[in-house]
Amino acid sequence: MRKITVIGTGYVGLVSGACFAEIGNRVICCDVDETKIAKLQRGEIPIYEPGLQEMVARNVERGQLLFTTEVGEAIEASDIVYIAVGTPMSETGEADMRYVMSAAKKVGEHLNRYKIIVNKSTVPVGTGELVREVVKANKKSPWTDFDVVSNPEFLREGSALSDCMNMDRAIIGSDSDKAAQEIADLHAPFQTKIFKTDLESAEMIKYAANTFLATKISFINAVANICERVGANVTDVAEGMGLDSRIGSKFLQAGIGYGGSCFPKDTYALAHIADKSGYDFELLKSVIKTNHRQRLIVLDKLREAVGGLAGKQIAVLGLAFKPNTDDMREAPSLTILPELLKQGASIRAFDPIAEEAARKLLPAEVQYAATVEQTVAGADAVVILTEWSDITGMDLAAIRSLLKQPIIIDGRNCFAPSDMEKNGYVYHSIGRQPVNQPEASRQSAVR
Ligand SMILES: NC(=O)c1ccc[n+]([C@@H]2O[C@H](COP(=O)([O-])OP(=O)(O)OC[C@H]3O[C@@H](n4cnc5c(N)ncnc54)[C@H](O)[C@@H]3O)[C@@H](O)[C@H]2O)c1
Repeated sequence: MRKITVIGTGYVGLVSGACFAEIGNRVICCDVDETKIAKLQRGEIPIYEPGLQEMVARNVERGQLLFTTEVGEAIEASDIVYIAVGTPMSETGEADMRYVMSAAKKVGEHLNRYKIIVNKSTVPVGTGELVREVVKANKKSPWTDFDVVSNPEFLREGSALSDCMNMDRAIIGSDSDKAAQEIADLHAPFQTKIFKTDLESAEMIKYAANTFLATKISFINAVANICERVGANVTDVAEGMGLDSRIGSKFLQAGIGYGGSCFPKDTYALAHIADKSGYDFELLKSVIKTNHRQRLIVLDKLREAVGGLAGKQIAVLGLAFKPNTDDMREAPSLTILPELLKQGASIRAFDPIAEEAARKLLPAEVQYAATVEQTVAGADAVVILTEWSDITGMDLAAIRSLLKQPIIIDGRNCFAPSDMEKNGYVYHSIGRQPVNQPEASRQSAVR
């Protein structure tokens, strides 16, 4: 049983800590956020992640998982210290390294015996070395030794537990063979592929992987925009492309673009790292630009379909950046809803889980409803922003009867256009031809 401390009890730290406890380690999860730790100590989970409540409860019960705000004490009590604090985007687009540096300082101040310090946060290349310097500068005894490892996280919110328990690889970067082997051994119960490399390459792998996936999304969205113009169907195009095993079918779903806590900030951060290194990463800059434009496409389609937004009642289905999470960071809804209001629409919105988080970030004029039916009642049109199962599984005939006009703008391609046509909807999606579009707006779309 290893003694592990995880600094930062957010989406990554809490899930990783719970999973390390689940495979038999004693884990202390610590955080500077007293409210978060108080909730966890009461058995409440501060985030929505399927299965997490049960796993946390099970390991707390077994005495394998503890929560504290005493970060220093937690560091002293462990041999392996994971840093899993946030690295949000700063105003310049760089990763904000304040939290990582403050965690590293704390580790230095409490380095009471040899420890392996592992960076799980997504950090710019060179951070491992910076962490080493900060720890060295703050440690009390010159004799206490430590090693630094980079072990980036790849979990996806919404399926984080299974991504962690069944991880398909662990990237371990270090200049210490001993420390790298210890972290590899820690991962043995996950029965995963271990890939060992140097610190810098491990840090780069995380950014390269995320920005490559973001590139796939922007690529298929750009293809979708062309499909609309030339009469092709992007769903079929993506399926056909994905049959090529060199391409694969994942991350080829056209829609309103990526959001969330990782892709937006990681794409900006790598573009920034590239600029700083003297390389103009034009491709990545286009990915970012394409994604930004893609968010606004539903607004154009909506305006076109309802004939101007002023005075219209719009039902918005889904607010989180993707289903099965309450994470609202960089959710497309945060761009789209204020723009709808600006253009004079009133909004009633629904999200089965993220409403509480959304209320803190969206303008006060947005109204909320508890069900899809209440949201759409009397609306001039529906906009789908997140493909929650409550939304993809809605009763199309019943919903149609509640709407003032049967117009759906689907930013996530939840439905087959042929079904929508049969159900009498004016239906616009991404990269596919609209159905039941009135003649007048069809002609203006062509123009
Ligand atoms: N969320 C994801 O899906 C995901 C996936 C892979 C990697 N990552 C990366 O993992 C890192 C963490 O992301 P997250 O989504 O868990 O962030 P988060 O914002 O949910 O959690 C970070 C936590 O760290 C705490 N914290 C900040 N400074 C601290 C300090 N000095 N001591 C103790 N606690 C401190 C904060 O209070 C917060 O609770 C980021 O670098 C992110 O890019 C995130």
